[in-house]
Amino acid sequence: MKMTREQLYRRIEQAEPGEIAKLEAQVNACSWRQHYHIQPVTGLLNDPNGFSFYQGYYHLFYQWFPLGTEHGMKYWYHTRSSDLVHWENVGIGIEPGSPYDSHGAYSGSAIEKDGVLNLLYTGNTRDENWIRHPYQCLAMMDENNVVTKYEQPVVSNVPSGYTEHFRDPKVWQHDNEYYFIIGAQRTDETGCAVLYRSADLKQWEFLGEIGTALSSFGYMWECPDYLELDGKGVLIFSPQGIQAEEDRYENIYQSGYLIGERLDLESRAFEHGPFHELDRGFDFYAPQTMESPDGRRIMVAWMGLPEQGYPTDNNGWAHCLTIPRQLSIHGDKLIQQPVQEMVKLRKQEQHAEARATLNNESRAFEGFNGIAYELECEISASDADIVGIEFRASDTEKTVIQYDRLQRKVVLDRSHSGTELSQVNGTTRKCTLDSDVIKLRMFVDSSSVEIFVNDGQEVFTSRIFPSQDSQGIRFFAHGGKADFKADIWNY
Ligand code: FRU
Repeated sequence: MKMTREQLYRRIEQAEPGEIAKLEAQVNACSWRQHYHIQPVTGLLNDPNGFSFYQGYYHLFYQWFPLGTEHGMKYWYHTRSSDLVHWENVGIGIEPGSPYDSHGAYSGSAIEKDGVLNLLYTGNTRDENWIRHPYQCLAMMDENNVVTKYEQPVVSNVPSGYTEHFRDPKVWQHDNEYYFIIGAQRTDETGCAVLYRSADLKQWEFLGEIGTALSSFGYMWECPDYLELDGKGVLIFSPQGIQAEEDRYENIYQSGYLIGERLDLESRAFEHGPFHELDRGFDFYAPQTMESPDGRRIMVAWMGLPEQGYPTDNNGWAHCLTIPRQLSIHGDKLIQQPVQEMVKLRKQEQHAEARATLNNESRAFEGFNGIAYELECEISASDADIVGIEFRASDTEKTVIQYDRLQRKVVLDRSHSGTELSQVNGTTRKCTLDSDVIKLRMFVDSSSVEIFVNDGQEVFTSRIFPSQDSQGIRFFAHGGKADFKADIWNY
């Protein structure tokens, strides 16, 4: 049942007696709860926020509405980890409800300065006519995880030329100054990103728009992120309003990047190549990156999308985050690899391997099954038309990842995965890949899969909602033969 506006914009302490306990009971009874992904204790999770390293821990916050599975009053929920793999729930990070974030502490980012972790976020407010007024706000977290809001917003107005869709500051330091980039909508209803500068994180100067070649590319850019990697500049953002074309842009909203020369911080000119989607699956949005202490660029995203129902809505919770991925640049593309720490989840006694040539057949192997696991598979020497893997499979359900060698396409098929999602465009996602050897590294959890293809050249990230009995894994080669080399680690 849909919540009314009054119900949606409640804080936790405004919950009805027993309401949270009821949600918790529903959540605890849900078989789609994840084993190793960050997920909300109750309610809805969306964007990752404030991804950073501070006082010996990685800190990762997320957008959170505790009281339901729709987008309501957003908190920042705080999780932390010493290794990017095992995450601990810390509790509420930023609580909304003050004059400048009366209708939600929206997305933002974190940076350490003078021993405290500074959290920059968008305070969402609505006036009596339900018109949005965004403020860019600052809160400071100390080493005891205590968060204190700075009394005044650090940016209280939207510069002329832009609408009230002005949010999601991503901060970084360059020389002795701080910059943030923020997602914006121009008054002509096209999306863009704009830049601010500060010496102290409190007084911010509006510099102007990032000069890209995409002058009319969707109606809003959410969650922009600017980073430098291997001497290049990379602009990541989540544009809304892009039409689907062939295998691209098939989800309701997109997330992608531009690679170019380093951003010129004076002129704000950004010379770049084409826009590429970051992920080829069904459920991926609003990624955020951070630099680890050892200099890696690591990205996490929301494994979900706005404006569509998910099967766990009936179980009192919705969505999770992706596993952290390390970024690198190859030519004009970003490569994504699971962070190396993920191998910590591999247990030798839970490992099985298979080596076989399959000839126009489908085959299961000893030890290959489960609900939560990592599966690595290399398929080579193939003259088959189609090769691939069925997983989370039973007699009636299966999720399929396959390579169509004739069409040179990788295809993820969710049509028989289990409980279906509403309002999703189609049941397959595809991308072109020209390769004789196909390597799949899959991270499967109770209700998700992340498939890294050919060492992270492409990634398919999707939620799936199979029954608990669907645990089978079958390898296949149709219309010819292929060599399979597979390893599984059950978690
Ligand atoms: C992206 C987004 C952001 C906003 C947040 C609110 O999913 O819409 O632009 O800050 O979610 O939860």
